[in-house]
Amino acid sequence: MSNYHIKHLEEYFQVYRKSVRNPESYWEEIAEEHFMWHKRWDNVLSYDFEKPEFKWFEGAQLNITENCIDRHLRTRGDQTAILFEPNNPDEEALHITYNELHDRVCKMANVLKVEGIQKGDRVCIYLPMIPELAVAVLACARIGAIHSVVFAGFSSTALATRINDSNCKMVITSDGSFRGSKTIDLKGIVDEGLKKCDSVETVLVVNRIDSGVEMKEGRDKWLQPLLDKAEATCEPEIMDAEDPLFILYTSGSTGTPKGMVHTTAGYMVYTAFTFKNVFQYRDGDVYWCTADIGWITGHSYIVYGPLANGATTVMFEGVPSYPDYGRFWEIVDKHKVTQFYTAPTAIRALAKENLEHVEKYDLSSLKVLGTVGEPINEEAWHWYDENIGKKKCPIVDTWWQTETGGIMISPIPYSTPAIPTFATLPLPGIQPALMDEEGKEIKGNQVDGRLCIKFPWPSMARTIWGNHQRYKDTYFSAFKNMYFTGDGALRDSVGYYRITGRVDDVVIVSGHNLGTAPIEDAINEHPAVAESAIVGYPHEVKGNALYGYVILKETGETRNQDNLRKEINQLISDRIGPIAKLDKIQFTSGLPKTRSGKIMRRILRKIASNDTSNLGDTSTLLNPEVVQEVMDNVIK
Ligand code: WT7
Repeated sequence: MSNYHIKHLEEYFQVYRKSVRNPESYWEEIAEEHFMWHKRWDNVLSYDFEKPEFKWFEGAQLNITENCIDRHLRTRGDQTAILFEPNNPDEEALHITYNELHDRVCKMANVLKVEGIQKGDRVCIYLPMIPELAVAVLACARIGAIHSVVFAGFSSTALATRINDSNCKMVITSDGSFRGSKTIDLKGIVDEGLKKCDSVETVLVVNRIDSGVEMKEGRDKWLQPLLDKAEATCEPEIMDAEDPLFILYTSGSTGTPKGMVHTTAGYMVYTAFTFKNVFQYRDGDVYWCTADIGWITGHSYIVYGPLANGATTVMFEGVPSYPDYGRFWEIVDKHKVTQFYTAPTAIRALAKENLEHVEKYDLSSLKVLGTVGEPINEEAWHWYDENIGKKKCPIVDTWWQTETGGIMISPIPYSTPAIPTFATLPLPGIQPALMDEEGKEIKGNQVDGRLCIKFPWPSMARTIWGNHQRYKDTYFSAFKNMYFTGDGALRDSVGYYRITGRVDDVVIVSGHNLGTAPIEDAINEHPAVAESAIVGYPHEVKGNALYGYVILKETGETRNQDNLRKEINQLISDRIGPIAKLDKIQFTSGLPKTRSGKIMRRILRKIASNDTSNLGDTSTLLNPEVVQEVMDNVIK
């Protein structure tokens, strides 16, 4: 039996029991056998849910890039590490071998050093899905700088908020990006954002679209000439196990985005382990995750997890609809992709298109299909199973979060029998619990409740950058001695988990985690708006879409409502990004509120979802009469 690679169901149960009975010795064995350390740990795990504080492999020293690159050079230096597929199908794909990746990362790391970046400094990376993005991430890790990747679809304001929150010293960006038939002026967005940032000393610019952008004297530098001068070796910085590896921002139900901090050793061990098992990766496979490295999925399962296993990982610059809706399948065919990992929203969008787009291509290389980001509905699951997997590929519905660092609940292909819409069973080391509202654990099967995790796992986020209290309040205060996920779940008669969705004010739109509060804050900036409330409602393709209820100031009421809607969405686009735009905006004279003044979102959610047969108890409302008005004017 191998602790590291589970191959059938019997083995899963054995390994799982062992991992729960003695987590320390379980993870210790894996850490020992499968990674490269400069110094061994003194202690596998110490934790305190009260503080909260979690330390894995304390005392150990390592560099994650040695584990992801250097140690593979002897055995697979000429194997493709990163397979880059450009936006334009006529541009040649790039096979970057492990040897080449080593040289690229070392050169970039040397450039960072020359430009004054030291261990512990924060570097903001705002790049499209081009090889430089993965290289920049790894170059930071090489020298112990903390990377903070910001998804290149975020607006200048969102970028500035993130840069300021962690005082980044440098931004790595490109002149622009290709996205389908469009180009996007990334450098312009950075310039705009940096007007509000004092901490940034240097901006390194990749030339991707040759757009001839303006360079600010003394601050902006083209990257290529610096790389050309740099040496192709760079000694890795020796890091402590618990040194921060990166910050990644995620939205909360209230307030500013949370800079989740992930540390080095535990994150490496857990992402590598889960990659191997959830995708059953074998030598010679070509693995493709369609996420953007701007999200945790890309960090853990495009960059670190695959490379730690010496895998070939595909990076795709473009979009699923360009030049047509067959692009994903064309790429699978072209590169003989074996594992394919995407989001339910992409599946739903592609399932709406003509099947010819799928049937044109040979998908027989595929062995495992995966989904992540939101619950997958049955129809989409079956479409994926029948048309992409041809009923021969196990589907892994992987549940996890930015905060968990790696996949937590998921089938293991060829082991766990899958059931559509179920994430199924916890991976080794993961101990889920369902809790009731009084804070009691609900034991047994065929129950539902709030999903918590009751024992630490190696890749859990250790804090929120600059705000440990918020980390404690958000994740460790709702239930004693547990991590609270924010999700609801049910456990069926055989112990399988099905995630039912968020129980807080976060809405998942097309797999993107959006807090309602920041969107409301953006809307409320509009001079004509007095107050607003955002809720999610079911949407065929996006899973959820956003519905806004807006109260106008008296002066605003005479304005043209369609123009107001446009202006509100423009504001949201500017403040957060186009992904947060509202599909429907209803103007109303009031919002249902409790006596303590809290907006009753439960009611608004039901109205927006066209589910008004049972609105629940409205007697505690301060203004029950407003409910009828809201219902009468609902936008269908
Ligand atoms: C939230 C986390 C983890 C990478 C992408 C999202 C929802 C995620 C599933 C799934 C049902 C899912 C949860 C979770 N979610 N995967 N397989 N089934 N829901 O990361 O942005 O941190 O969002 O996404 O609600 O809490 P994230």
